[in-house]
Amino acid sequence: MDAISVIRTKRDRGELSDEQIDWVIDAYTRGEVADEQMSALAMAILINGMNRREIARWTAAMIASGERMDFASLSRPTADKHSTGGVGDKITLPLAPLVAACGAAVPQLSGRGLGHTGGTLDKLESIPGWRALLSNEEMLSVLDGTGAVICAAGDGLAPADKKLYALRDVTGTVEAIPLIASSIMSKKIAEGTGSLILDVKVGTGAFMKTIEDARELASTMVGLGTDHGVRTVALLTDMSTPLGRTAGNALEVRESVEVLAGGGPSDVVELTLALAREMLDAAGVRDADPAKALADGSAMDVWRRMITAQGGDPDATLPVAREQHVVKASASGVLTRLDAYGIGVAAWRLGAGRARKEDPVQAGAGVEMHAKPGDPVTEGQPLLTLHTDTPERFEYALQSIEGSYDIAAAGTDFTASPVVLE
Ligand code: URA
Repeated sequence: MDAISVIRTKRDRGELSDEQIDWVIDAYTRGEVADEQMSALAMAILINGMNRREIARWTAAMIASGERMDFASLSRPTADKHSTGGVGDKITLPLAPLVAACGAAVPQLSGRGLGHTGGTLDKLESIPGWRALLSNEEMLSVLDGTGAVICAAGDGLAPADKKLYALRDVTGTVEAIPLIASSIMSKKIAEGTGSLILDVKVGTGAFMKTIEDARELASTMVGLGTDHGVRTVALLTDMSTPLGRTAGNALEVRESVEVLAGGGPSDVVELTLALAREMLDAAGVRDADPAKALADGSAMDVWRRMITAQGGDPDATLPVAREQHVVKASASGVLTRLDAYGIGVAAWRLGAGRARKEDPVQAGAGVEMHAKPGDPVTEGQPLLTLHTDTPERFEYALQSIEGSYDIAAAGTDFTASPVVLE
């Protein structure tokens, strides 16, 4: 077998055989297939697609490239959630302890932000002392002891995906449904969760801009999970507007703690509860009431124990950016649009995200939103507050905010998009 014949098959719109797929994934993981050859194959897949058999085999080969975890020793059923990524998407932070407080175990392997979408690990690292990197034994011990763990995937889990994802990121080949589905599901299946809820984002701030593409991605991932014995359910949720009222790292931790304290923005609470109910249902935990676990402090108790178990101080003061800039409403009326992509790019440019994988992020940087679509606004009132340690970034961030919101005359008929679309 050789890489060139595999590339030619897909370039010429052929179907890759099981043998070709197994060989190319294994040889790439071992360094025998070069990055430039894998880039060419990824581009051919992006352009010509893969059928369900090819995607299933590709996913299985990525799983087989590394180790598989096993949670059989736990006394509780496991449930995990994966979001395809968005702006202000801090849901994992309140959700994992909430579901644990209701009786399931939540092994949440999370990622870092890249580009305009935030990453759960970057957010949590703004808590002084908190560690994302745990050994498999530490991960199991936190999970067993507290019911939830949020950490980075170890190097041994689907190493083929680790290499391929980094390559796709710099070769314009991220946005291919077969590659996204196999990338996400290989990690989740190798992780060993019994059930998985997929939060597939749709809208300007998401990878999937249309509901049709989101449906295809969701059904591909549900099929892969189900075939591997993981109870998998997908929700399609709105990402045309940022979630909550903050986009940034420490800013979003603060907002998540508000949700755990029984308050917080209504869209974040609604999505957290919707996903919690799906996770508990898929894990077979009946008679739990997630709304009660938020109100009575039991989810907060798990949060505090989980953060402490990973070296963090849940009572520590969170970092605040050194400089602020207020964007004022340009007119009076009703806010009818606040674009997730524009706000996400602004937060990224302020320092909340990174341009290259090795870049550091600023814990305090980001965007605070003082109004959301449907809210009345008065000319001159603060609409957004931008936060950064490096004020020379304000101008660049402001460019992405220009054109990112609309204010209509008071009394204009307006209905906000539902949070859960399907
Ligand atoms: N997240 C992943 O893990 N992989 C992708 O390809 C896209 C988002």
